[in-house]
Amino acid sequence: MELITHVVDGEEVESASGARFESVDPFTRAAYAEVALGGEAEVDLAVAAARRAFDEGPWPRMGFAERGALLHRLADLVEEHADELALADTTDMGKPVTDARTKDVPRTALNFRFFADHARLSTGETLPMDTGHHAYSLFQPAGVVAAISPWNFPLMLESWKIAPALAWGNTVVLKPAEDTPASATLLARLALEAGLPPGVLNVVHGFGPDSAGAALTRHRDVDRITFTGESGTGRTIGQAAMANLTPVSFELGGKGANLVFDDADLDNAVSWSIKAVFANAGQVCLAGSRLFVQRGVYDEFLDRFVAAAEALRMGDPKDPATELGPLASEEHWKKVTGYLEDVAAGTGRMLTGGQAEGWFVRPTVVVDAPLDSRVVCEEVFGPVVTVHPFDTEEEAVRTANDSPYGLNAMVFTENLSRAHRVSEALRAGTVWVNCFFIRDLRAPFGGVGASGVGREGGSFSREFFTEPKAVVMQV
Ligand code: NAI
Ligand code: MG
Repeated sequence: MELITHVVDGEEVESASGARFESVDPFTRAAYAEVALGGEAEVDLAVAAARRAFDEGPWPRMGFAERGALLHRLADLVEEHADELALADTTDMGKPVTDARTKDVPRTALNFRFFADHARLSTGETLPMDTGHHAYSLFQPAGVVAAISPWNFPLMLESWKIAPALAWGNTVVLKPAEDTPASATLLARLALEAGLPPGVLNVVHGFGPDSAGAALTRHRDVDRITFTGESGTGRTIGQAAMANLTPVSFELGGKGANLVFDDADLDNAVSWSIKAVFANAGQVCLAGSRLFVQRGVYDEFLDRFVAAAEALRMGDPKDPATELGPLASEEHWKKVTGYLEDVAAGTGRMLTGGQAEGWFVRPTVVVDAPLDSRVVCEEVFGPVVTVHPFDTEEEAVRTANDSPYGLNAMVFTENLSRAHRVSEALRAGTVWVNCFFIRDLRAPFGGVGASGVGREGGSFSREFFTEPKAVVMQV
């Protein structure tokens, strides 16, 4: 079996204890690799390496152009190794290899290129003061960044954290999700090949509680914690972070509302709504899993939506034609099918879908589920959507906003005034109008309420990954 190691201070290493765990391919449901299992000792070594690289090494002292050139070189290597990286994520968590190859990997390369350029081109501000002084801002690297990532977009979300952290001159310790260790080690290897100094990007594998994750989040030598994952995990990490007053950036769960109005372009609405909840087998924090459709188009929309859901090609994620793979792990599959059992027991009516052989769940469309039921209120994180009719705009907005989550929402309408009005009224970090998942990396990205703390993207990432400093000078 393949062995997936930590990467600490430029070396691919196992844990001192020799401890390992297995990584399972959710399509074959068999272990395919062994992974070094890190704990406090490995985290201590990795944080110490990152600290040395930050305090004494060249990385934070380089100019933006030089550091940016190395990050562009890393992006080149990511593109050159695209097939290998895509296959790593597909084997670890079952995402269709075509999605990994054409979406996740190119976006990973783009993350490195974008943040390298954004940092180089950023400007501070100068403030001429009335008092015969002037003030200006400096954005200096924060230090050692701990990045804790989830398994749904392993490589892509890791790079979304690592790229801005590195571009601003920080050093990083990454703890990838235990379900998806492979691509992180490959990425750290490519970073060394690109010429990033040892200790700048370290990877420690392990679990969360009582393992590498917890050790990293309570470490006193960590200056920033960036985390994506479940809201409950965010609460736990937040408590550990506050013991050391370490700033955090959290992108947490979601229960995206998708509002389709009578005046929507239905072809467009159906096509995006399908992607919004079935892409990546619904294992997306941004999933449009609560679908509200105005009464006048409810039946027609549902007919088309169900037909499109049934047409999705489910199967072996390594087959380039596959659009829907298995769920990422047995544990997660059990969680998702638990919601389907609720529905079978009378919470709503399934128009299509349900569980299939292996760790698969078919694209599932549920109607008549009460708005206060578990399947409507909780993050299912699978290919399951509940559909609800509505009559008025006011009712749609009120129902959409009635959730502890507030990551994103979608609006489908051809009425310009309504598009603006509803976008303003929705309680969410991102609103997509007549589309889904289109990103400008300069835009703020994050969630309201239980969906997160802080924003990342462009200058928002700069705020988090630097110590902004004011210098005030008497003229
Ligand atoms: P999780 O939030 O527990 O794990 C995400 C990352 O946090 C992993 O790297 C994990 O090792 C780490 N972690 C967990 N507990 C930690 C702790 N106490 N200290 C430090 N690090 C810790 O998510 P998990 O267990 O993989 O999935 C559970 C459920 O969460 C899923 O079924 C899904 O519904 C939801 N989820 C939501 C995501 C989102 O983006 N909204 C992403 C991943 C999972
Ligand atoms: Mg796995």
